[in-house]
Amino acid sequence: MTKISPSILTADFGHLADEILSLSNSGADWLHLDVMDNVFVPNMSFGQSMIRSLRGVATLPFDVHLMVHDAPRYLAEFAEAGADIITVHPESAANTHLHRVVSQIRGLGKKAGIALNPSTHPDVLEYLYEELDLVLIMSVNPGYGGQKFIPQMLRKIEYVSERIQALGLSVEVEVDGGINVTNAKSVRDAGATVLVAGSAVVDAPNRAEAIRLLKGYCKEAV
Ligand code: DX5
Ligand code: ZN
Repeated sequence: MTKISPSILTADFGHLADEILSLSNSGADWLHLDVMDNVFVPNMSFGQSMIRSLRGVATLPFDVHLMVHDAPRYLAEFAEAGADIITVHPESAANTHLHRVVSQIRGLGKKAGIALNPSTHPDVLEYLYEELDLVLIMSVNPGYGGQKFIPQMLRKIEYVSERIQALGLSVEVEVDGGINVTNAKSVRDAGATVLVAGSAVVDAPNRAEAIRLLKGYCKEAV
């Protein structure tokens, strides 16, 4: 069954503990934490101290998406702060030696993910799949919540899912950006196993209903 990992980017940062409890009680499987440094992406969000403070609030796995220039420098701090999954971008120059970065994440006892910007070809993963727990396919250009899903990413989701199946691996395929009840089915059908949903869940009048719809439990809009 598809997992839902709500992004807290559009949540009320003045009441984050309550927001996280609300998402947990609404059926979220993971919690997606978008870390931005205003260098790799043109926006800032929060860092490891915020994650450390939130760790005690819920037992949900913390799915940490590092949209930062120098991820290797901070891996140990994010691991210590309570991240369960740490995902890095190959487009950042500091991640040039991507195999080493992924090995460092696993060496810290955490699950390792690689996130691909919309214009990045998935063949960058070809010799890394065996080292990965997750591939994060960005379906918007990273930096902001509430953007529109880029439809060509369906082809990339299919491509990555097929490679993982062909290799006989069980790597999660997570899709991030612009997911809503109108496109969730096609994203799941293309092979996504985890959907990130920011605005579609956090801004919904009924978060539990939004999560059920995204998982495909109830009738979806067309
Ligand atoms: C974008 C972030 C996403 C985003 C998702 O840079 O990585 O996680 O906040 O938000 P929505 O679902 O609103 O596109
Ligand atoms: Zn994200």
